[in-house]
Amino acid sequence: MRQSTLSADDLIWPLFICDGHGQREPIPSMPGVERLSIDLVVEAVGEAVALGIPAVALFPSTDQRLKSPECLEAINPENLVCRAVRAVKAAHGHRIGVICDVALDPYSSHGQDGLVRDGYVVNDETVEMLCRQAVVQAEAGCDVIAPSDMMDGRVGAVRRALDAEGFEHVQVLAYAAKYASAFYGPFRDAVGSAANLGGGDKRTYQMDPANSDEALREVALDLAEGADAVMVKPGMPYLDIVRRVKDAFGAPTFVYQVSGEYAMLAAAAANGWIDRDKAMVESLVAFKRAGADGVLTYFARDAARLLQHA
Ligand code: PBG
Repeated sequence: MRQSTLSADDLIWPLFICDGHGQREPIPSMPGVERLSIDLVVEAVGEAVALGIPAVALFPSTDQRLKSPECLEAINPENLVCRAVRAVKAAHGHRIGVICDVALDPYSSHGQDGLVRDGYVVNDETVEMLCRQAVVQAEAGCDVIAPSDMMDGRVGAVRRALDAEGFEHVQVLAYAAKYASAFYGPFRDAVGSAANLGGGDKRTYQMDPANSDEALREVALDLAEGADAVMVKPGMPYLDIVRRVKDAFGAPTFVYQVSGEYAMLAAAAANGWIDRDKAMVESLVAFKRAGADGVLTYFARDAARLLQHA
């Protein structure tokens, strides 16, 4: 009778990377999640492989001294995320897919995802940087480029840039319907961009939480520009969007259970107010029921372990 099922194969595990060796840094607003130095990221990815998780998404926590308004560290082939991708691929090869964000926020001193001119995040100049960032990450061995910046026209531009450099096999997973959400707060702590952003927000390029039709227009554009898969983000407050996107396009549709959603569940569970394991699995099955083909979730490892024994 059961219509939806959940397995490790549905899960993508986002990991935060920091400098150093043997380094583990807890993230206070995401209890149970840590930033890991590259050697420990390689180890964690090994666990993911063993559990049958098909892909990980790597996010760098960049040294504040390397951040600048022009975000040049984003296109440095030796930056933290590129080094991590190379190490993960050297250790695990084709046994797991590696996804990298394309956006400038880990590298910008102002915390925005794009270049800022006269107080405004400018679209076209940003897109040029994103193309260079995508190519540098593909050169490092990344399998899937995931533009998360929400600039207009970036999916097509990134696709052309990748093809021009011989990376036609690298896929594009577009953060197509990404809302300007309060639920990203703990992520910005994790990658250290919260302070850079200060009181700022991303409402000039991320979507208005009140809009639903706009999500379909955004997804249509990204698919037309060559996205291999699309994503809705955040997850639980936007299940209606996941369903509309899946029904309208039938494309591979991913959903991101973001940091704030993780934090809510983890905090309530830590207080004994909800059952952690049950709430975790229920939240993930809900994404499948809504039509998602896969879920990015900080619970990926825990859920995969639990499912192994289920
Ligand atoms: C960066 C990016 C964000 C997330 C993924 N990539 C934050 C933002 O847009 O401010 C959020 C992920 C999460 O909250 O777990 N563009």
